[in-house]
Amino acid sequence: MDHQFVLILDFGGQYNQLIARRVREHNVYCEVKPYKTPLDEIKAMKPVGIIFTGGPNSVYDPDSPSCPKEIFELGVPVLGICYGCQLMAQLLGGEVTAAQDDTAREYGKTGTHYDTSCTLFQGLPVEGVSWMSHGDYMAKVPEGFQLVAHTAMCPNVAIADEKRGFYGVQFHPEVNHTENGSLMLRNFLYHVCGCTGDWTMGNYKEQQIRSIREKVGDGKVLLALSGGVDSSVAAALLAEAVGNQLTCVFVDHGLMRKDEGDEVEAAFEKWDLHFVRVDAEQRFLDRLAGVADPETKRKIIGEEFIRVFEEEGKKIGTVDYLVQGTIYPDVIESGTGDAAVIKSHHNVGGLPDFVDFKEIIEPLRLLFKDEVRQLGRELGLPEYLVMRQPFPGPGLAIRVIGEITKDKLDVLREADFIFRDEIHKAGLDYSINQYFAVLTNMRSVGVMGDGRTYDYTLALRGVTTTDFMTADWARIPFEVLDRVSVRVVNEVGHINRVVYDITSKPPATIEWE
Ligand code: XMP
Repeated sequence: MDHQFVLILDFGGQYNQLIARRVREHNVYCEVKPYKTPLDEIKAMKPVGIIFTGGPNSVYDPDSPSCPKEIFELGVPVLGICYGCQLMAQLLGGEVTAAQDDTAREYGKTGTHYDTSCTLFQGLPVEGVSWMSHGDYMAKVPEGFQLVAHTAMCPNVAIADEKRGFYGVQFHPEVNHTENGSLMLRNFLYHVCGCTGDWTMGNYKEQQIRSIREKVGDGKVLLALSGGVDSSVAAALLAEAVGNQLTCVFVDHGLMRKDEGDEVEAAFEKWDLHFVRVDAEQRFLDRLAGVADPETKRKIIGEEFIRVFEEEGKKIGTVDYLVQGTIYPDVIESGTGDAAVIKSHHNVGGLPDFVDFKEIIEPLRLLFKDEVRQLGRELGLPEYLVMRQPFPGPGLAIRVIGEITKDKLDVLREADFIFRDEIHKAGLDYSINQYFAVLTNMRSVGVMGDGRTYDYTLALRGVTTTDFMTADWARIPFEVLDRVSVRVVNEVGHINRVVYDITSKPPATIEWE
């Protein structure tokens, strides 16, 4: 490994990915591994620091997740967060109990006093707000540890053994609600673990290009391009590494947003690769005709996509490598159990092995979304592509409610374009994480000029979210919504009513289907 490595041991906390992102934001490479990772493997990773995440359990429950005590004998600094802090305290001889009364149980934003002579808190104001979420309490702090932060209710919200480089915090420095949380993590990384910030996208790009060239040799590479950020960045990286040994198959299913297909094609003009754009619109429309059920739509699109891709793959002949745009959040194993399937997401990433190939290449496997975007910039992809908001694999098919026709898709494309245009003009494109229009299957009466109309209702959806698992509806200013409404009704046709969706997720989902 040609960069320093920080290990994040996952005890099932809901913020484990966030911790990793925060560490990477400080240009330090880290990976999230399950708490069960054997000690030998941990040693082999040669971490310069270890972070224990939070978790939903209580350390005094016999079945709660733990780790080998020998971790503390590796001579590597450890930062324990919430459950991780309590676990560290318990393993090193302290005592953790359920908080008996409200005094020691803390949730939410809490005024906190820091001992700024402690390395973890150096450079911070003495008073600040931290984000708490714990019902357990460290009744006895282990030997060698000092108390380095307290709140009005709780005397020991942070502990430190500076000699051995062990730190524990009851609160969550990784969430934005904790003031200066990012600085605390930086202090741990740079001033305790001795990190130098050697993880940059420029380095990563060069290193990946070298290793892809080495692996691929003069072999042939095939990639399914969806037009989304991940597959586009993967394509650009492969194009840079192996040029015309790469074939990108871009299945244009006719369910893209306005101009999107052309934009994707244009972005790849500068590379000497085989770019195959398959116009499969009619094929998809035929298969989807008369289908109203969302899950059936997804299934049909997923299948048809694979069929088209397979046909193109066969035309190329033998392929040595298949590229997939899998990214790190898809890879991280979480300590939590299986979640219920709400929607069967179709992703271009999940292709079965139908074409003969030697191996799969996943060059983004270790990157978070923001890092993928950064890599895209390094590779010279245009900003509109790099900053593209997530777009579902089944495309507009799940944004036309009920049966799909080409006419409905065209109406939606125009309306969606106006919405995006007005959001952009209002400078809101980066503060709203996903926004789009939905053509409902409801028609209602309106009046235009002197005439009665009986047309469709368009729904606008805008959400703010960090992980797309939960989301809040975006507070788009009324004036912006007003401009969209006026333009849509006047410019598009067949829409006489515009509504804005003000439900969060849960209970709603982000998409309507
Ligand atoms: P939901 O609607 O489940 O969406 O709240 C969460 C995120 O996933 C996207 N989404 C999909 N992405 N295939 C995809 O690749 C799908 O079938 C699919 N359905 C939803 C959605 O756009 C949002 O970003």
